[in-house]
Amino acid sequence: MAVTLSFMLQKGGVGKTTTMGIMSFLLARMGKKVLAVDMDSQGNVSTLLLQRNVYTFSNETILEAVEDQDPRPYIVPSDEIPNLHVIPADDLLAIYGRRIYEIQREEQRSVPPLLYLKQTLDVVQDEYDYILIDCPPSLNEQTLSALAASDCVVTVLQAEVYAYQALTRFFETLFHVKKNVRPDLVMLGIAVGLTDRYTLQDTILDECRDEYGALIFNTVIRRLARVAEFATLGISDARKDQKTALTQYEDLLKEILDRIDSGFYDNSIYLRALQNRLYYIEGKLQENLPDVKRIRFEGLRDETLQHIEIAKEWV
Ligand SMILES: Nc1ncnc2c1ncn2[C@@H]1O[C@H](COP(=O)(O)OP(=O)(O)O)[C@@H](O)[C@H]1O
Ligand SMILES: [Mg+2]
Repeated sequence: MAVTLSFMLQKGGVGKTTTMGIMSFLLARMGKKVLAVDMDSQGNVSTLLLQRNVYTFSNETILEAVEDQDPRPYIVPSDEIPNLHVIPADDLLAIYGRRIYEIQREEQRSVPPLLYLKQTLDVVQDEYDYILIDCPPSLNEQTLSALAASDCVVTVLQAEVYAYQALTRFFETLFHVKKNVRPDLVMLGIAVGLTDRYTLQDTILDECRDEYGALIFNTVIRRLARVAEFATLGISDARKDQKTALTQYEDLLKEILDRIDSGFYDNSIYLRALQNRLYYIEGKLQENLPDVKRIRFEGLRDETLQHIEIAKEWV
């Protein structure tokens, strides 16, 4: 049975797709059978891995696979990389959120809409060693479905203030996915990337290490021209400089696989994220709020307190 792994942060340009694409490439090169699933309507990982124009995938994407509850007709083998298969995406995937609720009204499926993707991928679980999912840069239904379909999640964080701030929001979202649809979901770690060794970035890296400790992978992904080139040339290790550019990703992959093998997890992140939220809500309640707003924040506070009790049991 495949291990399903998604790459996510609700922030664009942090290197998620590149990392996920290179991980797929490296796993396939190790002889593993890999299915790369594109859940981002930008279709970036489809074009990165298949080196075709995104228009060539229309009506043959993960959206149709979920509609049919069968991914097999939509799996595209890579021409260049043996063992690597892709289920592409295109612009239309943006309607995914609406579509799964329509399907729910039209058909009687045995699982809730957020599990339709998992149900679809389960059909080919036994044919792969790894299924990797690339997520869009937002906390929408595509992302929630990807998380619900995953055994593990890796976050790719650019050492930059907004990306750093997005992390606690992401952990809150993961809490809800674990609580409601996927109790066994594991947050494997945070890959910090795209640093140019600027001082501010190093400060953020230190802060990340202070705050998230063992969750931060030791490998830091540096910005390299050869990696940027993969977007147009395709991922390759044919040249020596390309091999060298892939080294940092090999190190990261090794850490990821070690964590999967050793059953690593750190559930304290959910508690901390919820406590952050509570802190914010209590701050709001100190303000002179109109009644409607006060009632809303009091409701949120009670709900967050309940969630905190649940998260405490996970630690
Ligand atoms: N290590 C790297 N070195 C140089 N450029 C990179 C690296 N990782 C990603 N990029 C480039 O940065 C841009 C954003 O990366 P991408 O993987 O698409 O991020 P995301 O999926 O988070 O939006 C792309 O143009 C990509 O080619
Ligand atoms: Mg992307």
